[in-house]
Amino acid sequence: MTDAEPGRVLVTGGAGFIGSHVCAALRRAGREVVVLDNLVTGDRENLRGIDVAFVEGLVAVAADVERAM
Ligand SMILES: NC(=O)c1ccc[n+]([C@@H]2O[C@H](COP(=O)([O-])OP(=O)(O)OC[C@H]3O[C@@H](n4cnc5c(N)ncnc54)[C@H](O)[C@@H]3O)[C@@H](O)[C@H]2O)c1
Repeated sequence: MTDAEPGRVLVTGGAGFIGSHVCAALRRAGREVVVLDNLVTGDRENLRGIDVAFVEGLVAVAADVERAM
């Protein structure tokens, strides 16, 4: 992620149970957060009130990861 802004974090599976809590903790720590999630079991509701950029896609698809990064 050499082009990324300092402090920006990509959370794959960020719309899930664990990932959404990770996102909340990162935001509390002042980090910018991008979530990549295909919503297979996750839900955008888990991220309600958490300021993240959301990209819907699969972590195993390079084009989706590139969009997120
Ligand atoms: N209140 C509670 O204690 C509570 C509540 C819910 C779950 N749990 C526990 O938490 C664990 C499950 O949580 P979790 O966070 O591991 O699972 P999760 O299913 O909630 O999160 C996984 C996330 O990854 C995403 N995902 C899956 N495949 C993907 C792919 N190829 N590309 C992009 N995204 C993808 C899913 O859509 C989902 O958002 C279980 O052990 C469960 O028992 C506990």
